[in-house]
Amino acid sequence: MLEDKIKGTIRDVIDFPKQGIVFKDITPILENPELTSEITKAFVSKSEVLKPDAIIGIESRGFFWGLLIAQAMDIPFIPVRKKGKLPYKTISYKYDLEYGSAEIEMHEDALSKGMNVIVHDDLLATGGTAMAAAQLVKSQGANVVGFSFLVNLTFLDGEQKIAPFSNNIISLVN
Ligand code: PRP
Ligand code: ADE
Repeated sequence: MLEDKIKGTIRDVIDFPKQGIVFKDITPILENPELTSEITKAFVSKSEVLKPDAIIGIESRGFFWGLLIAQAMDIPFIPVRKKGKLPYKTISYKYDLEYGSAEIEMHEDALSKGMNVIVHDDLLATGGTAMAAAQLVKSQGANVVGFSFLVNLTFLDGEQKIAPFSNNIISLVN
């Protein structure tokens, strides 16, 4: 089963980046092209039914599959980045993390009104990051038709934060 393969490949790193955090290290998956490709196909088949016009990928780990999914679906990939990284005019949103706070940005011309997008990231923890990205999408008059994550840390209940934007929450591992 794909979920078991992913679980068996992710490495748990204790106390990173802070004491008390069990960090889910996905880099061993990236070293396995077959598994990486299988994951892309799984995301694509679950995403197709939502008919997105674009995939929003969140820096940095949301870039790995975000672009692969968008390419496979032949739709645009739009990066959401940490503050100060995007060169053109941006819109931004501040939020809290499992281990700190952050601010993310998107180019102000990346989306147009009425566009339907999927917000993608590697991992859903408290939901602060995905919610911030969804806020950026909404502020442009575009719609979040779904979210997709490789991992959902269900015990942190991030789904509760993002469900008001869309109930379509794809996660390959819970
Ligand atoms: C991680 C992860 C998600 C976010 C999830 O990113 O990739 O983006 O945290 O946490 P949340 O649901 O509590 O908001 P991080 O900020 O560590 O940055 P990185 O992807 O650049 O490593
Ligand atoms: N982002 C937020 N919490 C995380 C965790 N426990 N492992 C990996 N990435 C994370």
